[in-house]
Amino acid sequence: MDYRKLGRTGLKVSELCLGTMTFRWTSSEADSLRVLDRAFDAGINFIDTADVYSRWAEGNPGGVAEEIIGKWLKSKPRDQIVIATKVRGRMWNGPNGEGLSRQHIMLAVEASLRRLGIECIDLYQVHHPDDSTPLDETLRALDDLVRQGKVGYLGASNYPAWLLMKALWVSDKHGLARFESIQPHYHLLNRPEVEPELAAVCLTEGVGLIPYSPLAGGFLTGKYRPGRIPEGSRGAGSLRMERYMTEAGFALLDGLEALGKERGKTIAQMALGWLLSLSMVTAPIVGANTVEQLEESLGAAGLRLNAEEMARLDELTGGNRTWDKRG
Ligand SMILES: NC(=O)c1ccc[n+]([C@@H]2O[C@H](COP(=O)([O-])OP(=O)(O)OC[C@H]3O[C@@H](n4cnc5c(N)ncnc54)[C@H](OP(=O)(O)O)[C@@H]3O)[C@@H](O)[C@H]2O)c1
Repeated sequence: MDYRKLGRTGLKVSELCLGTMTFRWTSSEADSLRVLDRAFDAGINFIDTADVYSRWAEGNPGGVAEEIIGKWLKSKPRDQIVIATKVRGRMWNGPNGEGLSRQHIMLAVEASLRRLGIECIDLYQVHHPDDSTPLDETLRALDDLVRQGKVGYLGASNYPAWLLMKALWVSDKHGLARFESIQPHYHLLNRPEVEPELAAVCLTEGVGLIPYSPLAGGFLTGKYRPGRIPEGSRGAGSLRMERYMTEAGFALLDGLEALGKERGKTIAQMALGWLLSLSMVTAPIVGANTVEQLEESLGAAGLRLNAEEMARLDELTGGNRTWDKRG
């Protein structure tokens, strides 16, 4: 496993980050613990969660994924692991039960620390923008947490380029800790969300980019085929997978398969390899319901695509990389 700096910071994280959104949603608690063990044994030191995971699953109060991680961490060396969590979503009733107000952040961070059983969250991320709260209120509250030692670094998620740039400016203007990473929805079938604007901000400002849903929620494994949604898959539970089930989507799967054959890599590994080959990407956040699924993603560690492979994937997805330092 290779380790990379999170943006401009000195923090080293594994080039694959483990996502935990499925814990006690589509993955049982026992499988979640097995996935954590296997990830750690394979050299993954970077774990992404959120206070709201997985509040949407029936019977879950929220905070469940953090609790599972907290349980697991008890028997692991804390100094070998980088924990990232998020704040913003609704965690309790009432007008301040969600958002990025000072009050919500200050209460939410204590609850996350308690569930995780740690004294400092290594990377504390705002999950989504909150346009009802002034940016400087949010950034001052987060800066206080860094100064208090409750949080190591700050990150944002689902921020468009202009808002991330504005947040960096506000932090700079007031001498506050700034967002060192951005977590967008980014994969081969969702390039415009990042390219070129967010990519350019990351490259010019030294912000680490940690893409979520790098396998398009499972579509880029190749298990979805025209007119066929596998039983028990995420796509069977929601219609959202159908947005990828187009002629272009299936042509991409064929292209990834053909390129992968030459290297002995699978469709999923090639899709992760594409992200690992982009200069502004720190670590794709992979999701896995089982150790077997994780195993396939682990096979992408160390994979770097060559210029011809990158160009072919540009052709198949209508993208270009004029914004990338490597051209
Ligand atoms: N910041 C945000 O707003 C945000 C939003 C979403 C996610 N995230 C983060 O990103 C992480 C990853 O997101 P994601 O789960 O959408 O990522 P993903 O890697 O695109 O999708 C993971 C899903 O794909 C399927 N899969 C994975 N490997 C497979 C394999 N080898 N064979 C067959 N199917 C396989 C599984 O779903 P099925 O088996 O159920 O089909 C698995 O749950 C989350 O855990 C979370 O930490 C953040």
